[in-house]
Amino acid sequence: MTQDREQTGGTLAQQMFGPQAGVYAQSKVHISDDSLESVQKLTAPITANGAAPYRWAVDIGTGAGFTAFAMAEVSENVVASDITQPMLRQVRRISGERGLPNVGLAQNAAESLPFASGSLDLITCRKAAHHFRDFEAALDEAQRTLRPGGSLVMADTVAPEDDALAKWQNDVELRRDFSHVEDRKISVIRQLLADRGLEVVGWENERVYLWFNDWVMRTKVPEEEAQALRREFQEASHELKQAFQVGEPEEDGDFLFSFPVWVFRAVKG
Ligand SMILES: C[S@@+](CC[C@H](N)C(=O)[O-])C[C@H]1O[C@@H](n2cnc3c(N)ncnc32)[C@H](O)[C@@H]1O
Repeated sequence: MTQDREQTGGTLAQQMFGPQAGVYAQSKVHISDDSLESVQKLTAPITANGAAPYRWAVDIGTGAGFTAFAMAEVSENVVASDITQPMLRQVRRISGERGLPNVGLAQNAAESLPFASGSLDLITCRKAAHHFRDFEAALDEAQRTLRPGGSLVMADTVAPEDDALAKWQNDVELRRDFSHVEDRKISVIRQLLADRGLEVVGWENERVYLWFNDWVMRTKVPEEEAQALRREFQEASHELKQAFQVGEPEEDGDFLFSFPVWVFRAVKG
């Protein structure tokens, strides 16, 4: 199945996100949420005179560009970079509407950045890393392209440290989105950063609250699978329901749940 999809053109991410670019451009949790506020907090200007502290910033897995737009306020130049061309068209449209002349575009994989070694002051990445085919290669590229003292700021869904809970979360994520790769444990991400000399200097622990119907609609889950997933949540054990804050269904069957999110700033030594 995976192989067939890879063969019919484009990466799984391109096949998932290309047709859905317009939906993501209007998605409330992408336009703004706690994770974007945390990215802004962790990238807040640190210079004494309040000048834009970043000359070159790159937002990887930019989607419709909402994190890149926020970074345009604290950076001289921002490159909004994504593997999916239709997403970049949304970035161009919205940045035009918002009047942001310092936002450029680049189509590339996070695992292969078209920037010189040591050239970037800031790399951001929000709600995207769990889709990257090779997360470690993406971290290698961030490490290579950041200048010494440059920052990597990432916000993404993470998995609980408990193995069974982590497996359940990744299983439902994959059934809902065939391009899902992995929600990793914070302990795993910390080790991968440490291995690359990226020191975590600040972080926020959050939750992303999701309405089930909206969550399955965004990725166009077939009705039968959506019903199976609905049962999976509603008939889960007490422990699972607590861990993912699965709410009681409303009259229309919709319900709220949440996944853990970690936002961090790591500095290259
Ligand atoms: C949920 S969207 C990102 C949302 C966005 N960062 C924001 O803040 O609104 C995930 C994006 O990751 C991109 N993506 C997936 N795999 C990628 C890869 N290997 N390299 C670059 N972008 C990738 C997809 O094309 C998609 O646009």
